[in-house]
Amino acid sequence: MLDVRRVQKTFNPGTPNEVRSLKGVDLALVEGEFVVIIGTNGSGKSTMLNAVGGSFFVDAGAIHLDGRDVTRWPEHRRAGMIGRVFQNPFSGTAPNLSIAENLALSARRGRRRGLGWALRGDLRSQIHEVVRSLNMGLETRLDNEIGNLSGGQRQALTLLMATWLKPKLLLLDEHTAALDPKSADQVIHLSGELISRDNLTTLMVTHSMHQAVNLGERLIMMHRGQILHDFRGAEKRRLRVDDLLGRFEEVRRADLLDETAAEMLRRKYV
Ligand SMILES: Nc1ncnc2c1ncn2[C@@H]1O[C@H](COP(=O)(O)OP(=O)(O)O)[C@@H](O)[C@H]1O
Ligand SMILES: [Mg+2]
Repeated sequence: MLDVRRVQKTFNPGTPNEVRSLKGVDLALVEGEFVVIIGTNGSGKSTMLNAVGGSFFVDAGAIHLDGRDVTRWPEHRRAGMIGRVFQNPFSGTAPNLSIAENLALSARRGRRRGLGWALRGDLRSQIHEVVRSLNMGLETRLDNEIGNLSGGQRQALTLLMATWLKPKLLLLDEHTAALDPKSADQVIHLSGELISRDNLTTLMVTHSMHQAVNLGERLIMMHRGQILHDFRGAEKRRLRVDDLLGRFEEVRRADLLDETAAEMLRRKYV
């Protein structure tokens, strides 16, 4: 379903701020696969999702989605196949539009007709139904502006919007990181339900080790722009939070050794 091949991305090349964010990443997902990504800060997780989503073009390598080479597709064209939810609850919805209008917008993505049309009849009752299923009491507030809702409520609605048209791929980038623990739990629960209901092929970045061990059938750990570990099947199911913390500790020690070695070299030769 998704095939990322030898993808490289360097920001600010040739300047003092040069960052090699992706150093030849290979990643293939089969249809319906739910993959969780963890990694230290700056390891390239968001860059990876943004490369797939089309936020920028990659420097080298190729990205195939649902049998199509989308490497050179602009972001808006990929958006027809990809649902995305970001960390910031304020980025996914239009604050001055109502709940119903926001959902209607995602339902008519790619169609050229007015919102008025979209909000008549069937769609309106569909929206009512889905919003009611959130159990957040929002179905009585369909005509309220989304800007007045809490972060958790907005993130739940953003998820509904991102999955409304059953995307070929769902990209979740630390989408619960900015929420209080209770809302984070609600949104994670909803994510799991939507993903399994529609068997959505999903890449989810998380900072939560609990989410990492409990969700998805495959877990990837990134470090310095590369995939360091790829746990699947029984190995993934056996993983515990302590195992992951151990892996992070290994990485930290290796980095420390690298720094020490570099420092020794500097002392010796400068
Ligand atoms: N648009 C950008 N411009 C410049 N540098 C960037 C950009 N996006 C990411 N980076 C850099 O690339 C590296 C990887 O970042 P990112 O993928 O966001 O890491 P994370 O794993 O924390 O999501 C970091 O050093 C970050 O500063
Ligand atoms: Mg990130």
